[in-house]
Amino acid sequence: MKQRTIGNVQVGAVGLGGMPMSIEGRPDEDRSIRTIHAAIDAGVTLIDTADAYHIHANEVGHNEALIAKALSTYGGDTSRVLVATKGGHLRPGDGSWTVDGSPKHLREAVDQSLKRLGVDTIGLYQFHRPDPRVPYGESVAVLGELLDTGKIRLAGISNANPDQIREAQRVLGGRLVSVQNQFSPAFRSSEPELRLCDELGIAFLPWSPLGGIGRAGQLGDRFDAFTKVGSARGVSPQRVALAWMLAKSPVVIPIPGASRPETIIDSAQAPELALSADEFAALDATS
Ligand SMILES: NC(=O)c1ccc[n+]([C@@H]2O[C@H](COP(=O)([O-])OP(=O)(O)OC[C@H]3O[C@@H](n4cnc5c(N)ncnc54)[C@H](OP(=O)(O)O)[C@@H]3O)[C@@H](O)[C@H]2O)c1
Repeated sequence: MKQRTIGNVQVGAVGLGGMPMSIEGRPDEDRSIRTIHAAIDAGVTLIDTADAYHIHANEVGHNEALIAKALSTYGGDTSRVLVATKGGHLRPGDGSWTVDGSPKHLREAVDQSLKRLGVDTIGLYQFHRPDPRVPYGESVAVLGELLDTGKIRLAGISNANPDQIREAQRVLGGRLVSVQNQFSPAFRSSEPELRLCDELGIAFLPWSPLGGIGRAGQLGDRFDAFTKVGSARGVSPQRVALAWMLAKSPVVIPIPGASRPETIIDSAQAPELALSADEFAALDATS
């Protein structure tokens, strides 16, 4: 797979999002493990997770533990796989998502993630979502501490606006390497953050790049231009969508979710799909 860069680390240009394998509607563990193994076979070396990818209150970190198990049972070399997890979001078990960006919580959360992932250093740790009760710089400063103590190798943020990206870059003394925001054919309002990341040379990881769990399959029905290009090229509209965002900037690294080997195998071929200028313009103009 073509490579892109997060900080000083090369990863396949398309990653795997782990969320569908651990939240509502998740498959059994065997299918999840097969999906993660298929992703690695296909050249995926970035796997995105979070401590909050679980359903019940007593299974925090379900997805981190699943990924650790998949890596340990892969049977081949996984040393190039960068696992990117997050802290700062919580699921109390009633279906809701809450936030806690306090330094105390983040310091405790990273220690738990280290244990579940079975590592001494987390590859990429991302502050999941701003907490309106905590000054943004205070939450992000914890990432700096974690870099200094070696608990994390790389630091990123998620669900941030341009001001927060600039603030994080300042608080971390230039060590911010990634921003993970929602971006897809259906959701384009993170264009300013994508452009800022391009300007600053920071990786931009679109989340729900196909429109989200339960909607990704209908992407082609909603966006005819993606179906047209897909039909002309003999590929899925989903693969076209990923190729389109990859073509927007060399800092873009989409992380499509999957709960079946077939879907990640299809998505992983997006970096090889080179769009013509006319195709790109037609896709970029849709809304
Ligand atoms: N930072 C945040 O706040 C945040 C929020 C949401 C998500 N995320 C991250 O972003 C990742 C991606 O987002 P998402 O999972 O919500 O949504 P998504 O990637 O837009 O859609 C996921 C769904 O797309 C389907 N799919 C994947 N590739 C496909 C293909 N080539 N053709 C047809 N269908 C395909 C999968 O189906 P199957 O299940 O059938 O395989 C999967 O259920 C998450 O897994 C998570 O890691 C982060």
